[in-house]
Amino acid sequence: MIKRASVIGLGKLGSPLVASFASHGIPTIGLDINSEYVKALQEGRAPVQETDLQKYIDQYHWVISATSDWEEAVMKSDASFIVVPTPSNPDGSFSNKFVVDACEKIGMALRAKKEFHIVAVVSTIMPESSEDEIIPILEAFSGKRAGIDFGYCYSPALIALGSVIRNFLNPDLVMIGESDKRSGQDLEMFYRAVVGQKPAIHRVGLAEAELAKIALNTFITTKISFANMLGMLSDKLGINVDNVTKIIGSDSRVGSKYLKAGGSYGGPCFPRDNRALARAAERLHMETFLPQATDRTNTQLIQNLYWEIEECLPTRSHSVGVIGLAYKLDTDVVEEAMGTRLAQMLAANRIPVIAYDPLAEKSAKKILDGAVSFASSLEECLKKASVIVVANPYPELANIDPAMLGGKTIIDCWRIVKKNRCLRARHLINERIRGKRIADQESVWLKEHTAACDGCGTLLDELNS
Ligand SMILES: NC(=O)c1ccc[n+]([C@@H]2O[C@H](COP(=O)([O-])OP(=O)(O)OC[C@H]3O[C@@H](n4cnc5c(N)ncnc54)[C@H](O)[C@@H]3O)[C@@H](O)[C@H]2O)c1
Repeated sequence: MIKRASVIGLGKLGSPLVASFASHGIPTIGLDINSEYVKALQEGRAPVQETDLQKYIDQYHWVISATSDWEEAVMKSDASFIVVPTPSNPDGSFSNKFVVDACEKIGMALRAKKEFHIVAVVSTIMPESSEDEIIPILEAFSGKRAGIDFGYCYSPALIALGSVIRNFLNPDLVMIGESDKRSGQDLEMFYRAVVGQKPAIHRVGLAEAELAKIALNTFITTKISFANMLGMLSDKLGINVDNVTKIIGSDSRVGSKYLKAGGSYGGPCFPRDNRALARAAERLHMETFLPQATDRTNTQLIQNLYWEIEECLPTRSHSVGVIGLAYKLDTDVVEEAMGTRLAQMLAANRIPVIAYDPLAEKSAKKILDGAVSFASSLEECLKKASVIVVANPYPELANIDPAMLGGKTIIDCWRIVKKNRCLRARHLINERIRGKRIADQESVWLKEHTAACDGCGTLLDELNS
């Protein structure tokens, strides 16, 4: 029975995992090779930035501890959850080097432990990694046999940054790949104490869970790229893509989640899990087409955006405002994020960029390295830029004062600005100037709005004269 947990790796996923276990009164000990993270947790500080993490640490510090000592972590817990990085190799597969390193240390600590201990890998790994690489390492370093002397499970997390704790505690499902029934059963009981009775807990073979984790993300990215393909097509047809995806998404066979045309997908999981699935098939001499097409559609979206900016920028010395540098709202992660990639492309082509993303500014600066300037407020970004790209849908954009924008072009990937009636009108007027086709419905709406609104009416008259 698992009553105490150790979490190996206190990064973006590991620290929230500690907090989630602790919130159910489970004594949890964290370990990391980064002594700063260990010290932070020992002192009651969140090692990483994540929604509610500090709040949970403050509230449940009495069951949380941290160490750099592997033996202590193993001895003071009944199961060790490994949440270390598995960086992508150039061929798209994941490297297990950090998992292997952690398993060597855990294996050595297991030598001295008499009680049954479960090792659960949470990090995303390639299919067959557990059987081919990880279990043999644990057995070699512990001198014990998996499934007999110690337990092994693969139990990946299905979370999104910015809502990691909420996702951990309220998952749709939990998956457990098990090396033996006892370990799977123990882990299932442990998770029930954390997530309650509602979520389905799937206990399957190790490679089945390994494949399911990356396949799930690949399915979602396929859906996103599909919606974005419809978005590109709808732009050409001059129609509203949201009306199209609304119809498709209301069919229960499809569902509306992640079926919204908007930005490209990014972050630490979606792009790489998609590529890893293709690589997993390739290793087995099987050709795939879907992951590659999904990836290409995703990249094309940013390229199209760049071309659109070039088209409407008065001169190459005018600034482009990029609103949103993280891969989504509420996170500072800029890995493969649309806004950051776009800013990089613009800067590489010597087009001045003024970016806005208070949460991700620090991490973006490391990548953009002086090539881009940063606005301290949304207003400043809107004021200084000639063309504005909405890469992330900040809710406050729906309420900005249209006077601040004059006749500037807004490329609103998420159609949030258009919720503001005057901005929507100005956006449509700009589209007309640029010779873009406007949907009949939108033209009718524009006529009605400009007849009722003096400011927008005058703007339209000026442009028509
Ligand atoms: N971040 C996400 O959104 C997300 C979502 C699902 C799955 N994952 C997977 O979870 C894993 C961890 O991701 P993350 O985002 O938390 O990474 P991270 O880089 O934020 O954190 C990993 C931590 O592990 C520590 N570490 C490295 N080697 C170690 C070792 N040998 N022993 C102990 N600690 C070690 C690092 O110092 C770091 O603090 C990856 O496999 C990732 O693919 C991440």
